[in-house]
Amino acid sequence: MAHKERSNKLFLLKLFVFSSVLVVCHSQYQPTWESLDSRPLPSWYDEAKLGIFLHWGVFSVPSFGSAWFWYDWKVFKYQGYIDFMKENYKPGFTYADFAKDFTAEFYQPAQWAKLFNDSGARYVVLTSKHHEGFTNWPSNVSFNWNSMDVGPQRDLVGELATAIREGTNLHFGLYHSMFEWFHPLYIEDKANNFTTTRFAKEKAMPELYEIINRYKPEVLWSDGAWQAPDTYWGSKEFLAWLYNDSPVRDTVVTNDRWGKGDMCHHGGYLTCTDKYNPGTLQKRKFENAMTVDKYAWGYRRNIQIADILTIEELIETLIETVSCGGNLLVNVGPTKSGFIIPVFQERLTQLGQWMNVNGEAIYSSKPWRFQNDTVTPRVWYTKQKTTEGDVVYGTVLKWPTSNTLILGAPKPSGQTLVNLVGYPQPINWKAGATGGIEIMLPTLTINTLPSKWAWVFKFTNLQN
Ligand SMILES: *[C@@H]1O[C@H](CO)[C@@H](O)[C@H](O)[C@H]1NC(C)=O
Ligand SMILES: *[C@@H]1O[C@H](CO)[C@@H](O)[C@H](O)[C@H]1NC(C)=O
Ligand SMILES: *[C@@H]1O[C@H](CO)[C@@H](O)[C@H](O)[C@H]1NC(C)=O
Ligand SMILES: *[C@@H]1O[C@H](CO)[C@@H](O)[C@H](O)[C@H]1NC(C)=O
Repeated sequence: MAHKERSNKLFLLKLFVFSSVLVVCHSQYQPTWESLDSRPLPSWYDEAKLGIFLHWGVFSVPSFGSAWFWYDWKVFKYQGYIDFMKENYKPGFTYADFAKDFTAEFYQPAQWAKLFNDSGARYVVLTSKHHEGFTNWPSNVSFNWNSMDVGPQRDLVGELATAIREGTNLHFGLYHSMFEWFHPLYIEDKANNFTTTRFAKEKAMPELYEIINRYKPEVLWSDGAWQAPDTYWGSKEFLAWLYNDSPVRDTVVTNDRWGKGDMCHHGGYLTCTDKYNPGTLQKRKFENAMTVDKYAWGYRRNIQIADILTIEELIETLIETVSCGGNLLVNVGPTKSGFIIPVFQERLTQLGQWMNVNGEAIYSSKPWRFQNDTVTPRVWYTKQKTTEGDVVYGTVLKWPTSNTLILGAPKPSGQTLVNLVGYPQPINWKAGATGGIEIMLPTLTINTLPSKWAWVFKFTNLQN
């Protein structure tokens, strides 16, 4: 008995010590920006460089204008939307009436997963809920305004998470809008100048805990928080939980849209503005979230071919972004039937073809001393650190009209080697007249050209 009591005490003591250690480990991050901003980004994210963004929701039903359809129609009252409704729908038709036509009958998440993998992307971010408030999963806090109760009658988020994890090595991520344009509780809190927090506590936060616990996304792409301070949302407390105790605490990355004034300052990586492509080296990791359709995030039925980025434009945006330290998040909008239209399929597949040849200049690369060339425009640099020193990659977006490519940034040494990535023979070069390098381009035919849209020169043993 006495012995047992002692061992119990010892056990309790051990338990106490053990749980103190746990407490210390788990409360590593405090709910302050100073502490949260000090968390290093999990390394997979910077290495990945390329992700696919999907804007999908009830706005994909009218598929007219943009994902802001409801707001543009009812609040901005743009004439184009008023006419569209008058000409095509019965009087009294509401936005909620669109939801039953969100059918998703062609939604085959395994097909999507294959397409995204073939694009060369290493992560995917799906809208779990956009500003309209419709949840693409059966949320406990979105009664009758979710993809299980109305429309698809499927868990769109869960099915994609499973397909991505079962069919690919991509990381699965979710976008989530904090605010909802027309939620009565949000409207009430806003009218109270955000001194009341019912919407944040009863809607936005429960959703975030739900999607993290249920789907374990490794990217949490927050949006729609800009009208209210992060103290209203409770963002810092949530992030401390996410980083310390959530099931994805070791691998999750987040962005910077956590409350008024936070964007471009606080959080994980920075997004700053939509389509952020600064053209100069950035101090902090950023992501350029952009769209293949130049004019919208959601699918538009009246899209014109001229509205769609060419593969040359898409690759240019990718290399500019990566040279400056960013990741590229390429958005396409699926249709209401759960289909990704062939022109988007083509663009993503072309991107993958280019990455298949030239990925060594992109994946796991670091920004070089120069981001672009000092002499020839539209040449962007990255580097790979190796045990034998840095290897520098210069991506050339325009094939020179003469057979010589003149670059100012790379300074050759006696040992310098130049290769064209995807081409077997080394490339001849000589020291440039004004300090850089002159590359004598080989005579290539359609059959020997390693890629169709942009060409990567690889430099080993440059001067430091
Ligand atoms: C994913 O893409 C890579 C090439 O980028 C390819 O090697 C691999 O087989 C693909 N996996 C699937 C499941 O399609
Ligand atoms: C949501 O509902 C499900 C099913 O009723 C339940 O198992 C789960 O605990 C609920 N989650 C929350 C966060 O309330
Ligand atoms: C709303 O609250 C902010 C602080 O959060 C304050 O600066 C502002 O004066 C308030 N506005 C009104 C109309 O009460
Ligand atoms: C390099 O990029 C910067 C920023 O985009 C631009 O201002 C500069 O003109 C570019 N250099 C050349 C030689 O094109």
